[in-house]
Amino acid sequence: MTRSLPAALMERIAAEAAAWVNPEDRTLTPAELQAVADEWQPDVMLVMAMDRIDADCIAALPASVRAIATLSVGHDHIDLPAARDRGIAVIHTPDILSDAVSEIAIMLMLCAARRAQEGERMIYGQTWKGWSPTQLLGRDVTGARLGVLGMGRIGRTIARRARAAFDMEVHYHNRSRLERGLEDGATYHDSAEGLLAVSDFLMLAAPSTPATKGFLNADRIAQLAQGAIVVNIARGDLVDDDALIAGLRSGHVAAAGLDVFNREPDIHPGYRELSNVFLQPHQGSSTIGTRVRMGEMLLDSIKFHLEGRDLPNRLV
Ligand code: DGY
Repeated sequence: MTRSLPAALMERIAAEAAAWVNPEDRTLTPAELQAVADEWQPDVMLVMAMDRIDADCIAALPASVRAIATLSVGHDHIDLPAARDRGIAVIHTPDILSDAVSEIAIMLMLCAARRAQEGERMIYGQTWKGWSPTQLLGRDVTGARLGVLGMGRIGRTIARRARAAFDMEVHYHNRSRLERGLEDGATYHDSAEGLLAVSDFLMLAAPSTPATKGFLNADRIAQLAQGAIVVNIARGDLVDDDALIAGLRSGHVAAAGLDVFNREPDIHPGYRELSNVFLQPHQGSSTIGTRVRMGEMLLDSIKFHLEGRDLPNRLV
């Protein structure tokens, strides 16, 4: 286990398995991961989204490893073809965190639109002079158009809540159109450009893949309407940071709410200089209940896999 988990999960693990657990609350280096795998010869590696399980890492794993289980829905940190070639199963935690991530998505959207960072700075910096009719005027969320890039399970959960809570008009772009029942009244755009043109709020909810990496670049930012707001709850690498920071500085992008970044935790320093951003440290699935449910799902899946059963959440 590359990280320790909440106590309820650690108790179950202690009762059901012999586990090596990283004693430090930090990501292991590739060399450390390799050394532990060599020494422990594990059946299963339980890893996090921050661990880079690339082709070199997988090639060097001992023959004992039968599964890599990641405490995340995202799996861009694992080289799936390399795992498949070695006959190693890869298991993740889909669905179970869609509610928690959609809560953060709505929070980022609201905080970006309603200038939460600036308001907080006024209070903590003791610069607030009292209510004023022109103070910190933000953007209306209610009735605005929400463009969702990536209407998977998380994107659909966000869309449903945005519509129910704020009467937002939902638009989306996916590689292919959803069935009508799953669309739930959202308007499909067969091109990203079509989506960008109508989005008052652009919600990045697509997985990181070669097709989505660098999606929000300078060209695409220029295609957003003046004053659009950008939210990213997916992966940092969907965004070209320099381009987004330039858009935020010029005001073409009115504000951004970001939970994920390139090169976490060493985020682009330009974000810290901006007042029209609301930033969170990769908190999407971080609720007590969700984290425990993710762990339970993973532990059940590991058990089922070792018993030779089929798993719906097995990626390869
Ligand atoms: C996920 O599950 O992919 C989240 O980003 C947490 O790692």
